[in-house]
Amino acid sequence: MNTKIISLLGLVAILFSSCQKGLTDKQKEEYVIKGKEIAQSTVKKLGSNLMKHMKEGGPQQAIPFCNTAANPLTKEVAEKYNVSIKRTSHKIRNENNKPNEKEDEILNQYLVSLLKGEKLKPIVSKDQDGKVHFYAPMKLEAKCMACHGTVGKEVTIKTDSILKSLYPNDKATGFKVDDLRGIVNITFNN
Ligand code: HEC
Repeated sequence: MNTKIISLLGLVAILFSSCQKGLTDKQKEEYVIKGKEIAQSTVKKLGSNLMKHMKEGGPQQAIPFCNTAANPLTKEVAEKYNVSIKRTSHKIRNENNKPNEKEDEILNQYLVSLLKGEKLKPIVSKDQDGKVHFYAPMKLEAKCMACHGTVGKEVTIKTDSILKSLYPNDKATGFKVDDLRGIVNITFNN
């Protein structure tokens, strides 16, 4: 092969691999904006419904709502934006929300950042299949504590027994306000 062709092939290979790897900073920024919008719209949808049930019937009514309606409501938002949405945590309540390897890595990264007192920022990355993911931290707020705070304190014994009956392996109590509760992973389909 002559050297010109070889160098041309080399160039093509470099271009191709950089495409494969690559999201430019500008693309990342765009995904962060989109991801934030989708995450906010999920929080709004879940939060307003959750608070309505909390007001009407306390944790007793709101927990079954989280158990049965959180996923269909999240799915509604996901379909609207053509993405999939997963909530996961280092301390899970529902086993179906278990983190995968990448999510584990990001959870650990956020936990370390928190210890260092750093501000947690969303992360955009591409997986091996070329799909783009938006990861963002979810922190505990005062309104989460009735179901994720300390048992016997914010979480009443009665609430804990309802939680235990639905989630025998519940690890999602004992949090304090501003602790990392988990992350959201938004996967873009296109
Ligand atoms: C009324 C009780 C209640 C309140 C209030 C509540 N949660 Fe939950 N949370 C639950 C239940 C029940 C589940 C399990 C849902 C399921 O089965 O998928 C859950 C699951 C989660 C998960 C998914 C990961 C896992 O552990 O399975 C995250 C993340 C989460 N909650 C964050 C929050 C945050 C942040 C707030 C406050 C803004 C909040 N929750 C308020 C009851 C509650």
